[in-house]
Amino acid sequence: MASARSSPAYSRGTHTLEVPMELFGQNRQRLCGALRKDSRVPKKAIVLLQGGESTTRYCSDHEPLFRQESYFHWAFGVEEPDFYGAIDVDSGRAILFPPNLPESYAVWMGRLLTQEDFRVRYGVDEVFFSNDILTILKERSPSALLTLKGLNSDSKQFSRPAAFDGISSFTVNDELLHPVISECRVFKSDLELQVMRYVNKISSEGHKEIMKLVRPGLYEYQAESKYGDYCYFNGGFRRMSYICICGSGNNGATLHYGHAGAPNAKRIENGDMCLFDMGGEYYCYTSDITCSFPANGKFTEKQKGIYEAVLKASRAVMKQVKPGVSWVDMHKLSERTELEALKAIGIVNGDIDEMMNVRLGAVFMPHGLGHFMGVDTHDVGGYPAGVERPSGAGIESLRTARTLEARMVLTIEPGLYFIDALIDRALANPDQARFINRDLLNQYRGFGGVRIEDDIVITDDGMELLTDVPRTVEEIEALMAEGRQSHTPLPQESCG
Ligand code: GLY
Ligand code: MN
Ligand code: MN
Repeated sequence: MASARSSPAYSRGTHTLEVPMELFGQNRQRLCGALRKDSRVPKKAIVLLQGGESTTRYCSDHEPLFRQESYFHWAFGVEEPDFYGAIDVDSGRAILFPPNLPESYAVWMGRLLTQEDFRVRYGVDEVFFSNDILTILKERSPSALLTLKGLNSDSKQFSRPAAFDGISSFTVNDELLHPVISECRVFKSDLELQVMRYVNKISSEGHKEIMKLVRPGLYEYQAESKYGDYCYFNGGFRRMSYICICGSGNNGATLHYGHAGAPNAKRIENGDMCLFDMGGEYYCYTSDITCSFPANGKFTEKQKGIYEAVLKASRAVMKQVKPGVSWVDMHKLSERTELEALKAIGIVNGDIDEMMNVRLGAVFMPHGLGHFMGVDTHDVGGYPAGVERPSGAGIESLRTARTLEARMVLTIEPGLYFIDALIDRALANPDQARFINRDLLNQYRGFGGVRIEDDIVITDDGMELLTDVPRTVEEIEALMAEGRQSHTPLPQESCG
């Protein structure tokens, strides 16, 4: 899919991946092709997207680092705020409208770029500054402006349709675009997959680096710090895909640990399991990887039992995924595999089907098996019209209930957690408590959790694994032992 014109590209140096702007040109062509097939879209329609806006921190003049709105990034690859972008559906021609910036920008922020600078940088057909948007769009006399309004099924928030002074003089349709562009985002092109492979490669290497480094005495945030540094220094990732979750010991049972109220601030202790969920982002394409390992480099029998239960679930799913397979069935497969393993350990007893019926698996894995991933970590398109959210504890948390198709990128992230609130609730529920060996389960309180999270692409006959980290107990212990030789302990580790 090479471009006829010489394609400008994004990179962060020759040691990083060069991403041709052709990637976004192809995305726009895919979008226009899909819109042209939709009989509700009139001839001479123009897609109008508004990019993310510059902001300041509360009432101050502090400007946080801008990150592009994801649909706008997918369509244009523009790095800066306050742009509009238009795409003529019939021809696929693209216009960018950068903001009119004040002359002071040249003093404080950098050279003011010209229309031609932007046209070349982003490989679009035309560029006009945004003060001219009304005039330019009027000249094109579109039958309709297609703007983006639609629900994000994870956040339950609506995307905000493009708006500018004078838009009411056009026929505006804010309903047609969202389902079509979201569906395009679900299926990754070859160029997008190249970026996602790169993001996963560096993000996986970063995890390995952390496994080599971690020892009792380190603080969780020091692992977060080293991971971010590894990804930025080696991969050019200025951002993480999400806030690093660096839970050690019982913190591994807090699913979204690492936020401002639980800021990866605990000292990692001998005997802790670590559950580190970290992924870098490159040019707005994401990764989402979790590694779980013992802080001291050697699994106890108890840790090994839980770890291998989760690994079994992960690999059972990997063997089954391919086009035509139901993601809900894969969630159930992971749950069943985990319950069987918990039964072998003795934590639960009884008939697995009956346990599934009372949703016992969700006591230990309250989240969904995985989600789409792309320009957002929890990517769009999980619940298009006609796909209903399934019911039942755990299953209802799935971010998609779709049947798998080639070119979907997903995470596979089964886990087992010992969460006091859920254990207490299960023990108080006779329907669930009757399967639980209370004394043995109580011995796992404080264990934390294990999650194994890999990123995959569905292929024509199975899957491609993007993530490359040690997964078996033996592989993890070998890498951590190597780290004891190659990596100098950090100063505070000598504090005992
Ligand atoms: N890191 C968030 C998730 O795994 O979905
Ligand atoms: Mn994750
Ligand atoms: Mn995830």
